[in-house]
Amino acid sequence: MQDKTLKTSAASAENKNPIITTRGLVKKFNGKTVLRGIDADIYEGEKVAVIGPSGSGKSTFLRCLNLLEIPTAGTIAFGDEIIYESDYYAQKDKLKELEAKKRVYTSGSDDEQVEKLTEKLETLKNDKKESERLTKELKNHLKLLKATSYRDGAQAEAEETAAKISAAKAETAALTVEIKKAKADIKARKAEVRSSLDASVTASLQAEIDKQRKITAQSRARHKKFIAQMEKTIDSHRRTTGMVFQHFNLFNNLSVLDNITLAPIKTGLEAVKERKKLLKAAARKGDENAKAELLSLPHKLEIIENARKQAYELLDRVGLKDKAGVYPVTLSGGQKQRIAIVRALAMNPKIMLFDEPTSALDPEMVGEVLQVIKKLADDGMTMVIVTHEMGFAREVATRVLFIDEGLIKEDAPPKELFGDPKNERLKEFLSKVL
Ligand SMILES: Nc1ncnc2c1ncn2[C@@H]1O[C@H](COP(=O)(O)OP(=O)(O)OP(=O)(O)O)[C@@H](O)[C@H]1O
Ligand SMILES: [Mg+2]
Repeated sequence: MQDKTLKTSAASAENKNPIITTRGLVKKFNGKTVLRGIDADIYEGEKVAVIGPSGSGKSTFLRCLNLLEIPTAGTIAFGDEIIYESDYYAQKDKLKELEAKKRVYTSGSDDEQVEKLTEKLETLKNDKKESERLTKELKNHLKLLKATSYRDGAQAEAEETAAKISAAKAETAALTVEIKKAKADIKARKAEVRSSLDASVTASLQAEIDKQRKITAQSRARHKKFIAQMEKTIDSHRRTTGMVFQHFNLFNNLSVLDNITLAPIKTGLEAVKERKKLLKAAARKGDENAKAELLSLPHKLEIIENARKQAYELLDRVGLKDKAGVYPVTLSGGQKQRIAIVRALAMNPKIMLFDEPTSALDPEMVGEVLQVIKKLADDGMTMVIVTHEMGFAREVATRVLFIDEGLIKEDAPPKELFGDPKNERLKEFLSKVL
């Protein structure tokens, strides 16, 4: 593992702590690179709006932040704690590069003469293909002529075509010979290059490869270990980030209240169970304090009551206290999204991540949801919000990130980013959406 403390970017306010930091965040899906090395710091209290074209990686970025997606490479830290770190894929790429370099050197394919000969070979191959194509075309034409042989002049044309076919065939044959010769020439030249290779260069390339192989193997071992560890801690990390999706993702078979209290109750009970185990062990050893504490642990009913109480308070805050007992199907989109927000808040997250929370809503419901988010922002909640609502971003965000092709291309306060965009792609994007 590398340096535990990550350097913060120039944008850092000195008295503030980053809640989430990413460095060189890369995400690939089946070999397709979607995030290409994102460096971001989200500071306490910030409201960061993320904008950018469709498919640019905004959702993937957000999902990586709470580990709904496991990144391919890079670092993610929550506060000072590094929760994901890997350079395995980068090291692997480096190894591949070195191996390719050596291959090129020892095969002689970067020799100038070999390059010229290879180019010539390509031209000959193309010529041959063209000649074959012509032969085929002429043959088809001849077939057609034969089928219409009763027409005037068809006989003469057929003879002429047959002659053309012979010529084209001869051309193809000649090209085949030339291609064979070109291939032999390349082989000979490569052999010549190989015999004059500088052994010390080959050896040093091999040494570099050997070294990189070791580094890659070590990095792979670390990567695997990290992934294995992460599986144990991932839930607790996710709990510190509240995520709200475009499509609410409420449980339709649970009442609003149960939707909200499900996770806090589960977490609360797990925590008590865990603590009980520890205290019991201590009590067995005759620890009187542990015994007393064991007795004072909250019991199941208390945990449930507390979760419910908090749920009602939160529902009240979004104006939906009277909806606690109903099922999500009876709610409007705007109400569902407000419940989804409450559900995320019920875990007391340090940061809220919103992925286009209003884009699935009918226009008349957008306002009520944005209002709730704005209120949260005003109350000091740190948030990252992917949004197409440029007006909202301008009004509420303290900083806007423009993501394009998997990279942050611009990072500025809204006034600056919207008023004086620097990046060409951003200018183009804004001209379409504003
Ligand atoms: N699970 C996945 N498997 C394969 N490809 C994926 C996966 N998730 C996302 N992608 C691809 O990654 C790219 C970025 O997707 P992402 O959803 O992050 O874009 P976005 O910026 O949020 O777009 P939008 O504005 O349309 O929501 C897309 O090409 C998408 O097809
Ligand atoms: Mg998206």
